[in-house]
Amino acid sequence: MANKEDINPNTLPKHIAVIMDGNGRWAKMQGKLRTFGHESGVKAVRETVEASAELGISYLTMYAFSTENWNRPKYEINALMTLLVSTISKETKTLMDNNIRLESIGDTDALPSKCRRELEEAKQKTAGNTRMTLVLALSYSARWEITQAMKQLAHQVKQGTIQPEAIDEKTIANHLTTAGMPDPELLIRTSGEHRISNFLLWQISYAELYFTDKLWPDFRKEDLYDAIVSFQNRERRFGKTSEQLKSQS
Ligand code: FPP
Repeated sequence: MANKEDINPNTLPKHIAVIMDGNGRWAKMQGKLRTFGHESGVKAVRETVEASAELGISYLTMYAFSTENWNRPKYEINALMTLLVSTISKETKTLMDNNIRLESIGDTDALPSKCRRELEEAKQKTAGNTRMTLVLALSYSARWEITQAMKQLAHQVKQGTIQPEAIDEKTIANHLTTAGMPDPELLIRTSGEHRISNFLLWQISYAELYFTDKLWPDFRKEDLYDAIVSFQNRERRFGKTSEQLKSQS
C-alpha cells in the first residue's frame, strides 16, 4: 500500500471523482441489512475527504445517490436520505473547521424537503471556504444532466439569444451542473465493478480510471494514496504520441 510520502505534490489531480460502490455487499457478507453498509460507508467518506484536503486536492466529487437509485426499495431510499441529512448536519462543523466548501450536482429538487433544506444550509454556510470543494452528486445521472443542458440550449436558440453556430464544447460544459469546475482527472470506483454507471460522462473524457476490489466501507486513506500513485505513474497523452510529449517537456 502507498504512503502519503509516495505522492508527488506537484502532479496531483486537481479533481478526483469517486463512485462509492459495494456497501450492500459489505453488509450482506456480515449478515446485516444493506442500510448498515451505507452507514458504515460514512467513515470511508470522512477518510477520503480528510485525505484529499490534507494532500491539497481542489475538488472531490462523490456519487452519493444516482437517478437510478430511486428505483431501490423504499426502506433503503428512506434510510439513505436520513443518513444524508444526519451526515451533512453532523459534518458541517468539520467542513467549516477544515475550510472545505460543500457543493452539489444533480436534480436536488427531487430530494425530500428536509434533505434539500439541510443541503442548502450547509452549502450556504461553507460557501466562503477555499481549501477544497466537496461535491456531492445527489439524484444525479449524466444523461439527466446532458438532457437538461440540451433543453436549456434549445430554449435559448428558440428565443434567439444564442445562434446554433455559436454552440461549442464550452457552451455545453457551461450548461452542465458542473459548470465552473475543472474536469475530473482521476475517477475511482470501488467494489471490483468496471462500469461508469451514468456518472459525469461528459466530464471524464480524459480522466484516468482506477478500479479497486475494496468494498466502499473498507476504503481508507491508503487506498486513495494507491489510486493517486497509480494516476501519477500513467502517461496522459490527450491524443498525442509519447514522443511528442517527451519533446515538449
Ligand atoms: C453504493 O453501494 C452506495 C450508495 C448507493 C450510497 C453511498 C452513500 C453513502 C456512503 C452514504 C453517505 C454519503 C455521504 C456523501 C453523506 P451499493 O448499495 O450499490 O452496494 P452493492 O453494489 O454492494 O449493492
